[in-house]
Amino acid sequence: MSLDSYVTLGRSGLRVSPFALGAMTFGEDPGAAGTSVAESEQILAAYLDRGGNFVDTANFYTNGHSEKILGDFFARSPGRRQRVVLASKFFANLHPGDPNGGGAGRSAILAQLHETLRRMQTDYLDVYWLHNWDRHTPIEETMRTLDDLVRAGTVRYIGFSNTPAWVTASAQTMALLRGWTPLIALQVEYSLLARTVEGELAPLAADQGMALVPWSPLKNGFLSGKYRRGSDVSDSARAAYVGGPTEDEFTVIETVDDIAGELETSSAAVALAWLRARTGTVVPIIGARRLAHLESNLAGLDIALTADHLHRLDQVSAPALNYPADLNGQMRATLQFAGTTVDGQASAVYPPLLASTVRY
Ligand SMILES: NC(=O)c1ccc[n+]([C@@H]2O[C@H](COP(=O)([O-])OP(=O)(O)OC[C@H]3O[C@@H](n4cnc5c(N)ncnc54)[C@H](OP(=O)(O)O)[C@@H]3O)[C@@H](O)[C@H]2O)c1
Repeated sequence: MSLDSYVTLGRSGLRVSPFALGAMTFGEDPGAAGTSVAESEQILAAYLDRGGNFVDTANFYTNGHSEKILGDFFARSPGRRQRVVLASKFFANLHPGDPNGGGAGRSAILAQLHETLRRMQTDYLDVYWLHNWDRHTPIEETMRTLDDLVRAGTVRYIGFSNTPAWVTASAQTMALLRGWTPLIALQVEYSLLARTVEGELAPLAADQGMALVPWSPLKNGFLSGKYRRGSDVSDSARAAYVGGPTEDEFTVIETVDDIAGELETSSAAVALAWLRARTGTVVPIIGARRLAHLESNLAGLDIALTADHLHRLDQVSAPALNYPADLNGQMRATLQFAGTTVDGQASAVYPPLLASTVRY
């Protein structure tokens, strides 16, 4: 598979590459763990040259520098921006002391979009993401404002990131019933080291025809192959902010490394190929601080994991999900299907029913 084997992003008319490119590392501004303008542009150019068309940023990455780096790059190549699916996010407040400088209220969204479009030197965004849930703003205000932006053409598609499933479901239902623009994708933390999204948000996405767009697909680089149990990581800017893997995480990392060895590919490629093999449309956002990272990560498009590889990875990384997930798995099938097989799912009989034939 290659970056120009495009997929449809959720229930929409938008075609995107199977891997998006994350621009969170574009710029060396404080707190960023990022890279220089020159290397950011090399990474972006390499991604685009290979057919990549889906680029992700946010208003507050590198204090706005990430958006500006993208804007400057496309301003120098007339016609190129129109071929790219540019995505940014609102929510983060770049104005200390101003309570309306961020969030998801009407004025805040309009002001943030204005600034984003200025930095990106474009008059529209292809995808606009709510970055975090704003519990201080009615969700109908956020959805109505986003619908206005889509109707005006300033924003083409919308999605949510880091928002609870119940809020997302409420927003989506409201949009559908009122004829407003629905969400087409959810940007979620998802990797072999972060699978709790499988409890609520992933089933919601599947039900609603939303794509899943995983962020930190290598868990801050932990799954890249450079983290080894008992030794310090070398050449990492991110490690200074996030530390290193736990002992449990190393168990997953070592399984990934073993499979990478068997397939003679990078650990990053194995971790990304696992995400690509999840059911539904899953479009990971790859992160790179070096051009070499991009190359190593794009190898995730070339390999096919066998059923045995997938089983080993699924087992070693199995998440502990929140209530009521346990009651809706095998226990539900037992209580509901009473020993029969339905839609391919086998079930047991609830033991007390077998222990006695007496019924009331
Ligand atoms: N919606 C949200 O809340 C949210 C949150 C986070 C990210 N995002 C989006 O998701 C994108 C990707 O997230 P991420 O940057 O956290 O992804 P990631 O792949 O988990 O981490 C990227 C970092 O890991 C290291 N790395 C990646 N590939 C490597 C390789 N092949 N070899 C060695 N090291 C490698 C690099 O850091 P070092 O070299 O410094 O170790 C790189 O900066 C972001 O750019 C952003 O667009 C969204």
